Amino acid sequence: MATLLVNGKSQTVDVSPDTPLLWAIREHLKLTGTKFGCGVAQCGACTVHLDGTAVRSCQTTIAQAAGKKITTIEGLHPQGRHPLQLAWIAEQVPQCGYCQSGQIMQAASLLAKTPKPTDDEIVAAMSGNICRCATYVRIKRAIKRAAGV
Ligand code: FES
Ligand code: FES
Repeated sequence: MATLLVNGKSQTVDVSPDTPLLWAIREHLKLTGTKFGCGVAQCGACTVHLDGTAVRSCQTTIAQAAGKKITTIEGLHPQGRHPLQLAWIAEQVPQCGYCQSGQIMQAASLLAKTPKPTDDEIVAAMSGNICRCATYVRIKRAIKRAAGV
């Protein structure tokens, strides 16, 4: 048994300490906004926040996540109206949508630390999040819109 603080709620999950956080989030807590892509920290589809920092939940164990504040896309904003979510809608970013929760969580971590990022900072921060539909231009535009730069 492990106790996790997910989106502000303390949750008990029946998993071993070496279980990937992604499994607990999706299979036990049924928070399916976080996606499984590669499973080896190469795509970013599984990105969540641990104490505000973007991490790959497929390669983060329950033991590493315990005691930290875990935020998934469902908890980014109570009404789903985080500035990035609004900008994503305004810019019509998604195509298939599969990578987009991870993209938004990665971008949210960037803006929390660097509210007015440069183009280079955006590219550097987002370079580990892969989009098979190649929505990169719209992703960058939405981040700039949310940041007001
Ligand atoms: S599923 Fe975690 S980085 Fe790809
Ligand atoms: S929108 Fe399809 S993978 Fe990114």
